[in-house]
Amino acid sequence: MEQIGEKLFKYKDFIFPLELVTPEHINSLQTFEIRDSDVFLVTYPKSGTIWTQQIIISICELDGGLNEYANNCQQMAWLEYKTKEDLSLRPSPRLFTSHVTPPLMPLGLKDKKTKIIYVMRNPKDVVVSYFHFGKVLTLYETPKSFEDFLEQYLAGNVGGSSWFDHIRAWYLNRDQYNILFLTYEDMILDLKGAVTKICRFLGKNLSDKGIDQVVEKATFKNMKKDSKANYEFILKETISGDFMRKGRIGDWKNMFTVAQSERVDRMLQEKLGDTGLKFIWE
Ligand code: A3P
Repeated sequence: MEQIGEKLFKYKDFIFPLELVTPEHINSLQTFEIRDSDVFLVTYPKSGTIWTQQIIISICELDGGLNEYANNCQQMAWLEYKTKEDLSLRPSPRLFTSHVTPPLMPLGLKDKKTKIIYVMRNPKDVVVSYFHFGKVLTLYETPKSFEDFLEQYLAGNVGGSSWFDHIRAWYLNRDQYNILFLTYEDMILDLKGAVTKICRFLGKNLSDKGIDQVVEKATFKNMKKDSKANYEFILKETISGDFMRKGRIGDWKNMFTVAQSERVDRMLQEKLGDTGLKFIWE
C-alpha cells in the first residue's frame, strides 16, 4: 500500500480514497460470493454513476420485489467501500456499485449470468466534472488548478487511477462477463432509449408507461431534488457544493485549451485507438 498525497492510496495498482477503503477489504472481494441475480453497475468516477443507479433502481422497483433501503447509495451497495454490514447476508436481489477494474472484482463474476452495466463518458467531460467535484468533496484534496489536476488525471494519479486503463481493461475483458456497455452521451441524447436498453438487459418487462415513469425519475431536474438519489443529500457532511452540477455533454470546452484537447485526443488514439471505441464530444 502506497499513500498518494494526503487522501489517496494505491493498492494492487489501483488508487482509492483513504477514508473509504482498506486493503483488507479489497483482498476480501476476490472471494466475495456472487449470485446470478446480483446486478453490478461499474464506472470510472464522474461518468454517470448516480444517474445509472437511479435508472436501475427505478426499473427494479417498478418490476417489484426490491428490498427497502434508506437511499440509492444504500440500495446499490458500494462494493469496495468498507461497511459494517455483511453484504453476503443481504437478501436477493442485490444491487452493487463499483469503480474498480476487473482484476479486483470478485472472481465469481467471471463466466457467470450476473449482470454488469458499465457506463463510460468522454474523458474530457470526466476530468472537468472530477475537477469541480474535488473542490466540493472533503474526500479528496482540493485541486490546485485545472491544469495541475489534468496532469494528475492523465498520469492516472487520481482516485480510480487512469481513465484510459479503466476503459481498456473492462472493454477488452468484456467476453468474460455478462456486460452491457453504455455511454453517458447516449443517455443524454436518448434517455428513453437507454432506459429501455437497461430494462431489456435486466430482463424486466416494463410497459411503455413504466419506462416513461423511470425516465421521469431520472431527468436531471427531478433527480436533483430527489433526496434518495442525489448524493448532495446523502453525503451532506462531506460535500459542500453540487454533486449534480451541470449534467451536460461538452462542458470541457469551457476548461480545455486547444493544446490540452489535442493532447487527450492523441492519448486516446495511442491508448484506445485499437478498440474502435468512439466518443461524442459535444
Ligand atoms: P457534471 O459534473 O458534468 O455535471 P458520477 O455520478 O459518476 O459521480 O457522475 C457525476 C456526473 O453525472 C455529474 O456531471 C452529474 O451532474 C451527472 N449527472 C448526475 N445525474 C444526472 C442526470 N440525471 N442527468 C444528467 N447528468 C447527471
